[in-house]
Amino acid sequence: ALERTLSIIKPDAVAKNVIGEIYSRFEKAGLKVVASKMKQLSKQEAEGFYAVHRERPFFAALVEFMISGPVMIQALQGENAVLKHRDLMGATNPKDAAPGTIRADFADSADFADSIDANAVHGSDSLENAAIEIAYFFPATDVYAR
Ligand code: CMP
Repeated sequence: ALERTLSIIKPDAVAKNVIGEIYSRFEKAGLKVVASKMKQLSKQEAEGFYAVHRERPFFAALVEFMISGPVMIQALQGENAVLKHRDLMGATNPKDAAPGTIRADFADSADFADSIDANAVHGSDSLENAAIEIAYFFPATDVYAR
């Protein structure tokens, strides 16, 4: 089915200057950018976005990382977009990500020791969460059918 998903290029990948290379992978996989913005998240915005992880031991470090520099936020549209985007990203821990995936190719996990916060990208994990996450960052008028 035609779906939309929320994608974030995290501060590590923005700093590496690979926004275009990552967008290119989305486009080659048939995902269209239907909303996009660069943003320096506030602590409150990052905490709200990751609220489902609030009780997890990695929450505070994750929030600090996500506000360490600007992120690139986009809504992607395409057939089976949620799963397709997750396949493009690869495993959450870049050390486990298959060669050719965004996390394997662009995350510098070694630079961050045991942290898997700097894993280059975030993607919605379900269609239900995708709708919530897109609405968190984009008013409906800023998402373009195309
Ligand atoms: P992301 O897809 O942005 O969703 C939550 C993030 O928490 C995840 O990617 C990782 O960057 C980060 N994280 C840190 N530690 C863990 C962990 N043990 N399990 C899952 N996610 C973690």
